[in-house]
Amino acid sequence: MTNGRGDNARWFSAAASAVASVAGRRTGNGWPRRDCAWTRQPLAATLHAPLPLRAMLRIDNLNAFYGDSHVLRGVSLELPAGNAMGLLGRNGMGKTTLIRALMGLVRAASGRVHWQGRDVTGWAPERMARLGIGYVPEGRGIFPNLSVHENLVIASRAGPDGRRDWTYERVLELFPRLRERLGHGGQQLSGGEQQMLSIGRALLTNPLLMIMDEATEGLAPQIVAEIWHVIATVRAAGVSTVIVDRNCRAVLANTDRAVVLEKGRVVLAGASATLAQQPEVLSRFLGV
Ligand SMILES: Nc1ncnc2c1ncn2[C@@H]1O[C@H](COP(=O)(O)OP(=O)(O)OP(=O)(O)O)[C@@H](O)[C@H]1O
Ligand SMILES: [Mg+2]
Repeated sequence: MTNGRGDNARWFSAAASAVASVAGRRTGNGWPRRDCAWTRQPLAATLHAPLPLRAMLRIDNLNAFYGDSHVLRGVSLELPAGNAMGLLGRNGMGKTTLIRALMGLVRAASGRVHWQGRDVTGWAPERMARLGIGYVPEGRGIFPNLSVHENLVIASRAGPDGRRDWTYERVLELFPRLRERLGHGGQQLSGGEQQMLSIGRALLTNPLLMIMDEATEGLAPQIVAEIWHVIATVRAAGVSTVIVDRNCRAVLANTDRAVVLEKGRVVLAGASATLAQQPEVLSRFLGV
């Protein structure tokens, strides 16, 4: 699969127009219109139009429910290979549910998920992981009764393309603290160490895409800085990333583009650098 930088650049510029368009237009009730002047399409639909090449991940019109509660309402998005995407939205807007639906942990009532051009809708979580999607869940998902060493070793495997770029040793270089804690049980670790272990475990699967839900939630400032540094390193190594974090400024600074969810809908999408320059839009949708 190829995905030339020129195509990405075209996507960014189109997405930037979409953001500018939304930012500049309001309805009578003071809310931005959810369409774009340049296409007169719903904003979510414009995500597809300017991207001529096959995306690594493509989600089309995804709907999901918890009981009677309609939590994802027609979510569509695309992630080109090598891109970093921020997933933003206030509490309870559906970010985690979208990730869980993508990973096969929540059933999609309708809509499609495509991975590298292949329809993988409804695939079980283990199969999704084997496609090369590393998942660092909210709450971290490490094995509390296993040692740090064991947690890492059992996660380790070649990527779907046979690569073993992320080795046990490389992960310990990335997280020297984990090296000092190799014999400790997962439950003996601090929150920051658990998050490092969770990220380390995901990297050891040699993923093509890393999804991090609440990347720095509840961590001390020094650890937060360390986690963002690691995220930048992973991104620079060419791994695609999807990042959810409360600190929207940090998300925008560490991603190529971002999608904002509100009540289960994509209400805004565009280049992260452009969104970062739209404080009034961010305040409207994110309360920041
Ligand atoms: N297991 C569940 N059963 C029923 N409702 C749920 C469940 N999990 C989440 N919800 C509801 O679904 C909606 C979306 O929740 P979700 O966790 O996806 O939001 P989020 O954007 O990740 O929020 P946060 O920023 O707090 O993590 C919320 O209204 C939430 O209360
Ligand atoms: Mg969440």
